[in-house]
Amino acid sequence: MKESDELKAFDAKLQSENLGPLWSSIHALNTIEPKAKPIPYLWKKAHIERHLEEAARLMEVGGAVERRAVFLINPGMKDLQPLGWGGATQTLYAAVQAVKPGEIAPAHRHTTTALRFIMKGRGAEGRVDGEKIPFEPGDYLITPTWAWHDHANQGDETVLWMDCLDTPFTMYMNVCFTEFHPDKQQPLQVPDDYSAQRYEGGMVRPVSDRTPQIAPLGRYKWEQTSRGLEGLSRFDPDPIEGYAVEYINPSTGKDANDRIGARMQKLPLKFRGKAHRHVHSCVYHAFKGKGYTVMNGVRFDWSEGDFFVIPSWTWHEHVNTSDEEEALLFSTNDLPIMEAFQFERAEELQEHDGHQQIQEVFEPIL
Ligand SMILES: [Fe+2]
Ligand SMILES: [Fe+2]
Repeated sequence: MKESDELKAFDAKLQSENLGPLWSSIHALNTIEPKAKPIPYLWKKAHIERHLEEAARLMEVGGAVERRAVFLINPGMKDLQPLGWGGATQTLYAAVQAVKPGEIAPAHRHTTTALRFIMKGRGAEGRVDGEKIPFEPGDYLITPTWAWHDHANQGDETVLWMDCLDTPFTMYMNVCFTEFHPDKQQPLQVPDDYSAQRYEGGMVRPVSDRTPQIAPLGRYKWEQTSRGLEGLSRFDPDPIEGYAVEYINPSTGKDANDRIGARMQKLPLKFRGKAHRHVHSCVYHAFKGKGYTVMNGVRFDWSEGDFFVIPSWTWHEHVNTSDEEEALLFSTNDLPIMEAFQFERAEELQEHDGHQQIQEVFEPIL
């Protein structure tokens, strides 16, 4: 619509009085397709770990410092205060947390929901809702909303893991509460590694869990995830995902964490995935191997330990560049939220046999 000078002045007057002119702004509010605020981005492992090492020099965890974690701030979210709302994507916070030998990250709970993926190091453990859970590399762990959790490292090496929470989502919804436990570590109420032992059989569950529970299983061990991928790998890969599994709640069949989805994905040797896009956003962590992901025509090269994000409605395709090593990608997503509100849509790229033209190569901060 073409506005006269008189109408433009009228629009400006409305806005100065905290009112909006729908006639001139309807397309800014009802976009033809999603316009993501976060941008496709990648953080290198060495960059994050260098700063974590400095943080380890500057602080001890357990006293005034509750957690030593460096989180990813998407450049497109930076204007949101405070701290880009901790947004790696519109809804997901992601960080790398380091706990040194002897440290205890004290018990607290919050309405944001959390999950962890153990990157490296042995000897750490977490307590979640009265259960002590050992952390081993490749394990996926959940901390449901409002569950007490504390972490400790009893071993002799620093343990690193990825945290993912729905912080930007709870910031937007204005629903975050946090509470601190009176004791540094919460009391244990069940035997150690209780839930993983109860689910040792994989796809069989204790009959008492027939009634759905929010998190009957707290720890998804790497061996089981790896076996799941191995079985899938006996068949042809999915043209987009390669071989991918998602972590589920055994009492509902839905996502293990009810607000954040999580997957482990294997790209076989020299795999070149086709491009698609979807409404849900993702945070990826390269657990093993090397390759690249093309997002909206920009190539993002990744190798073990790197993180990258795929914002909503961004074309993306994954490639394993190696002919010797399979690539393993752990990822989290906001699909449970998108599905809950019927927002999810997906589309596959039809042109150029499903591949994007690479226009540019992303230069990460090293
Ligand atoms: Fe926490
Ligand atoms: Fe995807």
